[in-house]
Amino acid sequence: MASLGVNIDHIATIRQARGGKDPDPVHAAVIAELAGATGITAHLREDRRHIQDRDIYMLKQVVKTHLNLEMAPTNEMTAIAVDVLPFMATLVPEKREERTTEGGLSIREREKDLAKTIETLRNNNILVSLFIDPNINEIKAAHRVNATHVELHTGYYSNAASENSIMEELAKLKDAALAANKLGMRINAGHGLNYVNVGAISAINNVEELNIGHAIISRAVLTGLDTAIRDMLALL
Ligand code: PXP
Repeated sequence: MASLGVNIDHIATIRQARGGKDPDPVHAAVIAELAGATGITAHLREDRRHIQDRDIYMLKQVVKTHLNLEMAPTNEMTAIAVDVLPFMATLVPEKREERTTEGGLSIREREKDLAKTIETLRNNNILVSLFIDPNINEIKAAHRVNATHVELHTGYYSNAASENSIMEELAKLKDAALAANKLGMRINAGHGLNYVNVGAISAINNVEELNIGHAIISRAVLTGLDTAIRDMLALL
């Protein structure tokens, strides 16, 4: 059974909608940890659409489990990572126009640059995970560039509509996990996981941690709404 890293980006998305201080993703991290999360993940995007620099620095101080900084492999983000020193950096591709991370890294297109970024991060004792599609060639490439971990992209599995394609995508994830394990890398997974589809992924051998954000924050908004309304009514 895998452990849970909670992605708190969408707490910051709600905050940024008003540009104020609430809700604070740092508070959300504390609640997630108290509830049993084994890690906190936050993605500092180039356009700062949700998580801000201040959040990452404060999370580093407050998080007691481990902080996973999701980041594009750019010079700017590498410099921030080396300054903050998170437990882990998960390198993801980033496009300005996308709503969320769409595909895995194409390691083979940029092996030399990635190897250099990974070396810098690892020299600073930061574990480095590469967010990749469940594809054997990308697994091999992740090993060549010296990643400590891979995060298998579960978005294709999550979006699969028919029973057949769900099974196909699940088989790719299982094969990828087996290959990464054989090469000595550690394995996380995430993207699009929810309360219905998470069980099969959690059961894959050697998958250590699942990074889940949208489904948890979406449910929290709805399950918390009743109490929030009753608390307000009590004040009227
Ligand atoms: N892992 C990575 C690399 C991601 O980019 C994201 C989305 O920010 C997640 C996991 C979490 O995905 P979701 O919000 O769909 O649970």
